[in-house]
Amino acid sequence: MQDIIIAIDGHSSCGKSTLAKSLAKALGYTYIDSGAMYRAVTLYFLRNDIQAEAGSRVDAALQDIHISFNKRNETLLNGENVEEEIRQMKISRYVSEVAAVPSVRKAMVQQQQRMGAGKKIVMDGRDIGTVVFPKAELKIFLTAKKEIRARRRHTELLEKGYESSVEEVMENLQHRDHIDSTREDSPLRQAADAVIIDNSVLSREEQLARALELARQAGATDRL
Ligand code: DC
Repeated sequence: MQDIIIAIDGHSSCGKSTLAKSLAKALGYTYIDSGAMYRAVTLYFLRNDIQAEAGSRVDAALQDIHISFNKRNETLLNGENVEEEIRQMKISRYVSEVAAVPSVRKAMVQQQQRMGAGKKIVMDGRDIGTVVFPKAELKIFLTAKKEIRARRRHTELLEKGYESSVEEVMENLQHRDHIDSTREDSPLRQAADAVIIDNSVLSREEQLARALELARQAGATDRL
């Protein structure tokens, strides 16, 4: 038995964070939402009117951006709790453009690798198994049908009090999938050694059970 790193990658809104959080809890590991880091950078850019393509301003801004998480896994941007704000549509609309900028990625990947230095983490994102932790002991590639993802995301936004239509959510998902999968720097792709879990018809409990089984096979000990 050993401490391991678990990388969970996949398209937008296919339930990565739900699975990653419950898996981390079951193992007593730390959960890191790498997408939240790109969202926090996007919020900083919007607040400070920085265009993603403005090279030197972006580099200067990155020096000023410090992202961390509190005990409830909420995202802090330079110490300010921005968890609610980064989940809004105004951020979702712009985040893929920001996440495609190589200097932004370089800064985030460095932070993520530091967070994983002591192992015992579950990190979800798009390039975790391919770029951030290519040697992760367990890599999961999560996928689900597009319609199911859009409906789940729409319900989630409504529950949080954000009005949107399923069509608008679907359009945003497709837009982000396209940019995330076709960008030059670290595009979303399945690592050759990743295990695919299609959760279109799996309950949360079934997904967790499968992921825990994989984690045990990879050497982790769970607390349950
Ligand atoms: O997981 P999410 O939807 O909160 O991610 C927000 C955006 O950040 C998404 O459009 C792609 C990008 N992202 C990325 O490029 N690399 C990661 N490791 C995580 C997210």
